[in-house]
Amino acid sequence: MGEMGKIVEAVDDLIMAAVVPPEAYVSPDYAKAEQEKLWRKVWLQAGRIEDIPEPGNFITFDINTDSVIIVRVGPEEVRAYHNVCPHRGRRLIDTPPGKRNAVGSRPNFICGYHGWTFDLEGKNTFVEHKDDWNGALGCGRGDLGTVKVDTWGGWLWINLDPNSGPLREYLEPAASLLEPYQLQNMRPRWRKWVIFQCNWKVAMEAFCETYHVSTTHPEFMEFGQFRGWARNQGLHSNIGYDAPKGQEEDAGKLRLGTGEDPRITTAEMQNFTWANANTNTTETLVGVANRLKDELPEGTPPTEVSKYWIATARAEDEARGVIWPTIEPTHTLKAGTAWQIFPNFQIGHAVNNMLCYDARPYNSDPDMCIFEAAVYELYPEGEAPETEWTYTEPADWPPVLQQDFNNMAAVQQGMKNVGFRGAQPNPYMERSVTSLHYNLSRYMGTGTPVTIGAVDDVPGIGHNHPGTDAR
Ligand code: FES
Ligand SMILES: [Fe+2]
Repeated sequence: MGEMGKIVEAVDDLIMAAVVPPEAYVSPDYAKAEQEKLWRKVWLQAGRIEDIPEPGNFITFDINTDSVIIVRVGPEEVRAYHNVCPHRGRRLIDTPPGKRNAVGSRPNFICGYHGWTFDLEGKNTFVEHKDDWNGALGCGRGDLGTVKVDTWGGWLWINLDPNSGPLREYLEPAASLLEPYQLQNMRPRWRKWVIFQCNWKVAMEAFCETYHVSTTHPEFMEFGQFRGWARNQGLHSNIGYDAPKGQEEDAGKLRLGTGEDPRITTAEMQNFTWANANTNTTETLVGVANRLKDELPEGTPPTEVSKYWIATARAEDEARGVIWPTIEPTHTLKAGTAWQIFPNFQIGHAVNNMLCYDARPYNSDPDMCIFEAAVYELYPEGEAPETEWTYTEPADWPPVLQQDFNNMAAVQQGMKNVGFRGAQPNPYMERSVTSLHYNLSRYMGTGTPVTIGAVDDVPGIGHNHPGTDAR
């Protein structure tokens, strides 16, 4: 292979330019291997705690051929079980046709095949003609298999590996840096899912960087600059905006419009975002932004506009019982605007709302994924709307997300082109892509990003590398 460059070794910052081999996106063998090496080893976000408020409430969560039941057993206790009957293997709880997962409430689980019955603690409480086994069903043989489950940030997390480490440890440093945002207090405004024609990594990577904004979402360029950083954070990564000097409080998601009159551009950006993305803002923020031109004199400096907008929206929300946490600007600079939780969950946090994406494989097909997005915000006690996961064809998603979808399908096609030499993420703005693949390679044993330097080092480019493989 000659001067291929060396395997990326920097566990901490991954600052070098690197090439990500296409295998992880397109190889059927890689996709099959993921089930054993990745999905059955990592902590996976599997639902929200508020989805199962009462004892007996349950949801299911599927990942490829594996399925898990997560059930509330008591006020403080949630348990998870493999969704399979230990008798002869019938899936215990079916997913209703066209639904993302099963949701329900039961005093116990009764298998539809021969009626074996399990209480909420997974113990077998009924086997018809049990004596025929002559006692052989003791020692838990007739009980449901347990799955590790824990909670953080208001989510339910499962791990199919009985030997996995604790969730909180796994989530660091994301958990600590996100703690002040009190994400557990937010409730969904909408939740959509779709089965899409791309690898789950292509889907996640469409949202893990700000580099695509100017080209994919050109409408936003009227409102300001969206250059942002990406940092490797151990197993995870985060991204954030480069705040203008002296405007560090504008590094978060509640951003001011730029241009001559930020009173006007902020309102324009808020209205556009609300109508076309239906995320990253709230009705309160939009409402106050629309009054900035009436409530502030012309020529008010951007810093003052920003302070007034945020403080007024905060006070209005407080008056209706919606309390935003207070985050220091120095913390915002560290926490950024979104975290990519390894391997397949993105939390786009703010003090009063968040946008979360996840993607996972569909039937271990490298060209398909289940893609989901949910938008959350703070509601007055008891006033959160009832939402459920709604299957939504791409054409029915908010227009800004459709722009991202357009890239996702086309990237999946392009990655299979014989002439594609591997992805070359921007080392500053798209380091989150390198981070994902670096960490994936630790689980998968293949697909490690390779650092690149001068043009001469890149196979398939240049003039004097006879015999080098185009990939
Ligand atoms: S497979 Fe469940 S009771 Fe027989
Ligand atoms: Fe986008």
